Amino acid sequence: MTTDDDPQLRVSKIRNGTVIDHVAAGQALNVLAILGIDGTGGEEVSVGMNVPSGRIERKDVVKVEGRELSPAEVDVLSLIAPEATINIIRDYEVVRKTRVQRPEAVVGVIECPNHNCITNADEPVESEFDVLDDGIRCRYCDTILREGIAAQIRA
Ligand code: CTP
Ligand code: ZN
Repeated sequence: MTTDDDPQLRVSKIRNGTVIDHVAAGQALNVLAILGIDGTGGEEVSVGMNVPSGRIERKDVVKVEGRELSPAEVDVLSLIAPEATINIIRDYEVVRKTRVQRPEAVVGVIECPNHNCITNADEPVESEFDVLDDGIRCRYCDTILREGIAAQIRA
């Protein structure tokens, strides 16, 4: 189907890259934060926000041209977009479609919000969080993070 035939298509199709689809409405900017995309790197990115969608009524969608996500990036995405579908696009075709899965733990990606945590001291200790149903918990200081996970992602 071409772009012109599809009344649901708000954002152009991409040639090669990743489409992060079925993101919870309102989370697109956090998805971009997780991917480290703020526009200054010159990436070609399209974002749809609050787009009508059958499965979850309204959704956000993020399309990144020329980049396929790493498993670590997908793990962190799952924390803020548990319903997301990752579509790898090559030559305009969806060659792989996977649902994100919540990992049991996230290592070295998120900064503990507790300034006194050993992972924030000048020690060679990587951050480690256990993934709970409704947030994540630091394995070193037990601080629980529910909101604002995207803001704690290491740049
Ligand atoms: N897409 C895109 N560029 C392409 C191919 C697909 O941006 N060259 C987007 C589509 O617009 C859609 C997502 O990638 O948002 C998945 O494409 P597709 O599997 O064709 O759509 P659906 O069947 O609707 O996906 P799902 O079943 O996951 O809802
Ligand atoms: Zn901690």
